[in-house]
Amino acid sequence: MAKILVTGGTGYIGSHTVVELQKVGFEVVVVDNLSNSNIDVLNGIEKITGIRPAFENIDCADYVSMDRMFEKYKGIDAIIHFAASKAVGESVEKPLLYYRNNLVSLINLLQLMPIHKVKNIVFSSSCTVYGQPDVLPVTEDAPIKPALSPYGNTKQICEEIIHDTIHSNPCYQSIILRYFNPIGAHPSAEIGELPNGVPNNLLPFVTQTAIGLRKQLQVYGDDYNTPDGSCIRDYIHVVDLAKAHVIAVQRMLNNQTKHHVETFNLGTGRGLSVLEIIETFEKVNGVKIPYKLAPRREGDIEKVWADPSYANDELGWTANETVEETLRSAWVWEQNLAKRVKEE
Ligand code: NAD
Ligand code: WQD
Repeated sequence: MAKILVTGGTGYIGSHTVVELQKVGFEVVVVDNLSNSNIDVLNGIEKITGIRPAFENIDCADYVSMDRMFEKYKGIDAIIHFAASKAVGESVEKPLLYYRNNLVSLINLLQLMPIHKVKNIVFSSSCTVYGQPDVLPVTEDAPIKPALSPYGNTKQICEEIIHDTIHSNPCYQSIILRYFNPIGAHPSAEIGELPNGVPNNLLPFVTQTAIGLRKQLQVYGDDYNTPDGSCIRDYIHVVDLAKAHVIAVQRMLNNQTKHHVETFNLGTGRGLSVLEIIETFEKVNGVKIPYKLAPRREGDIEKVWADPSYANDELGWTANETVEETLRSAWVWEQNLAKRVKEE
């Protein structure tokens, strides 16, 4: 079976993807510098799949160490490149950290690929590249809008770097996946999202408020041009997202790609408001989320949701999980985390 390098494989989306890759028999090598994740995630992956993936604590921005890693695990067939810094606010404060980490990591991989005869790379991009789309649901050919943060800009630049590199050398192929808002956790509750410090993203803040770690959730804005005034997003179960990566890798390995670079939206196609998320979370989990309406958060997009039909048709992939099930999994994971902290 093919060997897949997963950078950022102990992170949130990476760990769920490692599980899905191992489930269908891929051999996985994880590279992660643990800058935003914990080594214990490997225990969770092993509990679910019965297999502990090979792991290297390496910074992808370190060319020499990455070169040695490719040498050590000879015969890598494809890369899934998750490793990146992702906190939007932090990227505004420390732009160079973001440009260095996110750009250099990708450039190193693209430089090392021909040296080690690796043809295929899947790249984690984001719906952030669309900014506030003019037309909803947003399709892949919608214009890329000026980035709202250095983080968002790194995703745009990385996409361009991939296009330019592959244009110059068609021996490579790449699938760029633009994620909408991944939430939830593996149904086993062995792995899930582990935010560092106070969460910036909605769902971890909701679950931490529900468990009592945070007093109150602030709903950023109730005066948007949406039915209930709060922002709308396309929330997708992280396991659905992970499964799309397996399909993308298989598509490249089986030479089914139609272009050297293909780009797919990964979303459900359904937009939900912040208030709808709170209400549904409360209903399916039987818990109250204390919240208050607060001013808008700077840089927020009013509404965005995906047209996932290109991924549905071409990849034969759809986001299957209901939002109810997704929100249930997020809550079970938070409760499991709390239990673990108590036991420690
Ligand atoms: P995450 O922070 O949980 O995972 C990223 C992992 O990469 C972490 O384990 C971190 O330690 C590691 N990492 C960071 N820089 C590294 C480096 N230089 N070398 C080695 N490892 C490094 O984030 P995630 O939510 O799993 O996101 C994965 C990818 O998906 C990222 O590229 C992110 O930008 C992208 N993305 C995430 C979202 C989201 O909402 N979570 C949405 C769109 C796109
Ligand atoms: C969702 C909604 C908030 C927290 C971020 C990145 C983006 C992409 C996805 C990586 C918004 C509201 C949030 C809170 C709230 N990531 N909210 N109270 O804004 O879609 O995008 O993640 O590529 O680049 O910017 O996700 O989870 O932060 O917010 O009301 O305490 O929840 O205003 O409307 P967002 P999010």
